[in-house]
Amino acid sequence: MGRFGWKRPVGLFLLGIYGVIQPYWLVMTAVLESPRGGEGMNDKSQQLGLFEGDIVPVVCRLSPASLDDLSRIESESSQAPWSRKFFAYEFENTFSRTYGARVGAQLVGFVVIHVVADEVHIVNLAVDQRLRRRGVARQLVLEVLDDLHCQGAEWVYLEVRVGNQAAISLYEKLGFYRAGLRRKYYSDNGEDAVLMTLKLGELMARRSGEVAA
Ligand SMILES: CC(C)(COP(=O)(O)OP(=O)(O)OC[C@H]1O[C@@H](n2cnc3c(N)ncnc32)[C@H](O)[C@@H]1OP(=O)(O)O)[C@@H](O)C(=O)NCCC(=O)NCCS
Repeated sequence: MGRFGWKRPVGLFLLGIYGVIQPYWLVMTAVLESPRGGEGMNDKSQQLGLFEGDIVPVVCRLSPASLDDLSRIESESSQAPWSRKFFAYEFENTFSRTYGARVGAQLVGFVVIHVVADEVHIVNLAVDQRLRRRGVARQLVLEVLDDLHCQGAEWVYLEVRVGNQAAISLYEKLGFYRAGLRRKYYSDNGEDAVLMTLKLGELMARRSGEVAA
């Protein structure tokens, strides 16, 4: 043992823990303590029709490096959560894309979509439960749909549990409409799914009108 004996490894261990926790803590406290109605609006968030104080995340396509974060958000968000393996499979699936919403280095939301020809199917979406009602899902979905529309996508479909009022409200706010009901769609509890759809050209025209007005 050297001059500091057992204190050295303990000190290094505590320093390591601090190094891991501190950046996460700084980002999350900054985000959680910024109330709706606070400062921080920029041109982009105004164009997206957001409230002042909404979080403005960076939206990007994810890689398997995000599997732990995806599983963490999913496990606290779904009554029948996808496994880590299931997310990993989506990264290998050639018609699947997983996008994330980030605040600093922290993943705060994700959406998984399948793209076949000019059709997009939203197959999973969730936001960190501590950061809900801050505009994260709306921005994430809008930015991803913008990008897909530029690449030639025209129609978007999704299924949502009839009892999931938060998600249904979100989709209706984005312009989706109810196209049908899929009986006993969910195998965990036999719940029905509402089938919702959206024509991307209409969404973009509406948004262009909103920005021009
Ligand atoms: C649904 C979900 C993704 C919404 O994420 P979010 O980031 O909180 O949503 P936003 O802040 O962008 O909300 C946009 C709009 O959606 C609607 N909305 C969102 N959450 C709502 C809720 N709990 N109750 C009613 N409306 C809600 C509102 O119209 C809201 O606009 P407003 O806040 O200006 O009123 C989130 O609640 C979640 O992760 N839920 C669990 C997973 C899930 O249900 N996924 C959907 C699978 S189809």
